[in-house]
Amino acid sequence: MRSLRIRIYGDDILRAESAEVEKFDGELGELIEKMVETMIVEDGVGLAAPQVGVSRRIAVVNPDPQNPDTLLTLVNPRIRSCSDETDCVEEGCLSVPGIRGRVERPIAIEVEYQDRHGGRHCVKVVGLVSRIMQHEVDHLDGVLFVDRLSFGRKTLVKGRLRDLARKGKRE
Ligand code: CO
Repeated sequence: MRSLRIRIYGDDILRAESAEVEKFDGELGELIEKMVETMIVEDGVGLAAPQVGVSRRIAVVNPDPQNPDTLLTLVNPRIRSCSDETDCVEEGCLSVPGIRGRVERPIAIEVEYQDRHGGRHCVKVVGLVSRIMQHEVDHLDGVLFVDRLSFGRKTLVKGRLRDLARKGKRE
């Protein structure tokens, strides 16, 4: 199976709000398989559909790449509640290569989502999984982690983001 091309910062699809998934068919299953494959090939811990050019509310997360049992597919995820307690941890993104930065997020969340067959689930997650899920749900709303950096850090990476955007547009 060939992996999908990752869209890079500057590509408009990364800024669009993705559409709800309504049909849970073979085509959806195939897309999810390809997303998982791409995430593994690219060595990521999460991937959202807009990052591979599909503006639909689908994300895959893989907090422990050594352990395939931790792999989770989220269709139409919705964050139902967040802890008041936050932490500030360094993040990166396959769509923003070469740039990392600390992002403050709630430590624990409750997420409602559907699986690839349409079954409904609700999980409470904490720590790394919670952080990855919040990062991926952001993608589905057109938000990137660089939007959430501190003012100082944003200023520092501004030039590099501009370069990425120029390259992304050319591709
Ligand atoms: Co990302």
